[in-house]
Amino acid sequence: MSAKPKVTANFSSSGRGESAPLNNSGFKEKPVRIREATPDDAGAVIALLERLYAETSFLLYEPGEMKSNVEVYARRMAEGIEKGNWTMFIADCDGSLVGTLFGSRGNAKRTYHSLTVGIGVLRANWGQGIGRSLLGAAESWAKARGVHRLELTVRTTNHRAMALYERVGFEWEGVKRHSQLVENEYVNEFLMSKLIAV
Ligand SMILES: CC(C)(COP(=O)(O)OP(=O)(O)OC[C@H]1O[C@@H](n2cnc3c(N)ncnc32)[C@H](O)[C@@H]1OP(=O)(O)O)[C@@H](O)C(=O)NCCC(=O)NCCS
Repeated sequence: MSAKPKVTANFSSSGRGESAPLNNSGFKEKPVRIREATPDDAGAVIALLERLYAETSFLLYEPGEMKSNVEVYARRMAEGIEKGNWTMFIADCDGSLVGTLFGSRGNAKRTYHSLTVGIGVLRANWGQGIGRSLLGAAESWAKARGVHRLELTVRTTNHRAMALYERVGFEWEGVKRHSQLVENEYVNEFLMSKLIAV
């Protein structure tokens, strides 16, 4: 049986940088560390996103569609961090990124309590608890900032992702009909959310 790598995080509910083990179910040579991304990570994040878009059609962009300039991306990250309305967590395996989650708060006062999240983990690293840990990091981030609602959309055929979301407490809210056009076919997404006590 292959051992799961150790996943650790350098976040806490206070949003400060403590390091705490999240998964003690086994060890591999290279542990995975979950941490908040900084603008210095922009180049590596863009490279990871390009790999993810090439690997799966369950994310928003088609391979090669998102053309990001590292400087521009880093500046946007810095702005989001400064304003406190955006965050990104990354899963770092021995210096290379294997997963990411981004979250952005609503722009209006009436939606600022809500964080929309998106998540992707490289296929080679699935099933190691990285997705669950990234969502845990986002929830801690949200809680520390008074965010009451986490929300996301998931393709109705993405059973793996839905199982993960349900496992961490997201609930089904409804269907977005024909919300995406994938390989010339209109497809539906589910809307899911999790309310957190703040
Ligand atoms: C969905 C995704 C983020 C999950 O990441 P992951 O790191 O593999 O997730 P985890 O290892 O934390 O798995 C957590 C849960 O997923 C579910 N899961 C794992 N393997 C599964 C499988 N083969 N079939 C169905 N569900 C499965 C389980 O509920 C598991 O919880 P458990 O380990 O307590 O049983 C990842 O598969 C991915 O990036 N997919 C492609 C992009 C994508 O679909 N993003 C989401 C768009 S909405």
